[in-house]
Amino acid sequence: MQPDSVYAICGFNDISSRQAMGFNLMVVDDDGNHRPWSIIVVRWGKKVLGYVNKCPHNSVNLDWELNQFLDPYGIRLMCGKHGSTFELGTGRCVEGPCQGRALTPIALVVLDGDICVVGVHLVEDDASANN
Ligand code: FES
Repeated sequence: MQPDSVYAICGFNDISSRQAMGFNLMVVDDDGNHRPWSIIVVRWGKKVLGYVNKCPHNSVNLDWELNQFLDPYGIRLMCGKHGSTFELGTGRCVEGPCQGRALTPIALVVLDGDICVVGVHLVEDDASANN
């Protein structure tokens, strides 16, 4: 396990401001098993926010079409299946079947123009390592 590893997943400019993009990665568990890890990365101006791509009430991915994560107003994340909407900044569900629950945040940093995940151990075939 390399808890301090930093993995670049895309360039900062690969995601336009006010857009979200999904990444299907693979993590190594503490017991050494590989497990799919699907995440959402939102860029808002100079900020990046990340959440696990899993609705808290039914465990499905939020995007019903590839990379369709935002509500029609473009200001919240939305479950395409049932319409729950989530605050971008907190991941908290504000409307819909899982109201009051929240998406699981993930730690992201921007380094040398790349958006990177930290605090996880990725299977390196699925992402470029930068540690
Ligand atoms: S799975 Fe929870 S709102 Fe869609």
